[in-house]
Amino acid sequence: MASVTSISKKEIVEALRDNPEELFEEADSVRKKYCGDEVHVRGIIEFSNHCCRSCLYCGLRCQNRAIHRYRIPADEIVQIAGEISRCGAGTVVLQSGDDFGFGHKELSNVIVRIKKDNPSVAITLCLGERPLDDYKAFKDAGADRYLLKHETANPELYEKLHPGQTLRTRIKILEYLRKSGYQIGAGNIVGLPGQTIEDIASDILLLKELDVYMAGIGPFIPQKETPLKDYASGTLELTLKTLALVRIYTKNTHLPATTALATLSPENGQLLALRGGCNVLMPDWTPERYRKDYIIYDGKVRVDVEKAKELISKAGRTISRGRGDSFKERNEKAESVL
Ligand code: 5AD
Repeated sequence: MASVTSISKKEIVEALRDNPEELFEEADSVRKKYCGDEVHVRGIIEFSNHCCRSCLYCGLRCQNRAIHRYRIPADEIVQIAGEISRCGAGTVVLQSGDDFGFGHKELSNVIVRIKKDNPSVAITLCLGERPLDDYKAFKDAGADRYLLKHETANPELYEKLHPGQTLRTRIKILEYLRKSGYQIGAGNIVGLPGQTIEDIASDILLLKELDVYMAGIGPFIPQKETPLKDYASGTLELTLKTLALVRIYTKNTHLPATTALATLSPENGQLLALRGGCNVLMPDWTPERYRKDYIIYDGKVRVDVEKAKELISKAGRTISRGRGDSFKERNEKAESVL
């Protein structure tokens, strides 16, 4: 097993260094075979920018006093979720900083209300690290999926970038979430200061090993109120190559063309990602008065549902009307029949 892993890692490193054209073509055909032509639209509500963490790259870090902190009231979150559902998006993503000011009871109640009003919608949570009992409570309330990005698979770099946190804990939480019945998502940042090509190969291998249902992968973009403000952004090419390789190696994982790609390259970042393996878009439904303070990185562009539809048609694809659940079980069953 060890040697297979090391060969794969070497191969991945080579592919990350190589000319990408063939890689993108292969990723596109793997996407077509395992995921089809439908693009899944997930509506995001960034409902709180409070955060108790100190991640060196993120503008929401608690040391940043330059942003106004907000929490969207529960009634308003439920109302926005209704708008997302009526618009035909099959998933509502509730995203925030690691905010314990939003208690588990209050959040569970929001989840119950969204499900009651919109029974056909799936709920993805992206709330960071919380006590394990909270995850259980959210699952019981009706949450379907949990996105907890591993950010980097290099444990030393992870600890440098996330003071007081460890990669081990993060992976343990992901395993706990899966056992609790969530469809789990992870993902990494490409081009982090101090990150090597080998580290990115490890990210790809970790995603494969975790067998995630989705992987959120985007470039590092500096934020001016953080310690990493003077570092360069990750590149478009390396991010697209990473996405393509994740598609090729993991086959049926849901892969969003992220907003960070649109920010890095507004003309064609997301379009190239859709043509190089991606099959998900996550337009933002956070009302403007809050959104202006959700500054994880500088210059964050807004990808709204109209922009998402435009991209899907430009890429020659169709919009999914379903929830866009995990492909894993379905394909495993299909493969076992063959
Ligand atoms: N550049 C790119 N991605 C970032 N994130 C936070 N800060 C940055 C940054 N400066 C990403 C992290 C986090 C998600 C909410 O945003 O991956 O998980």
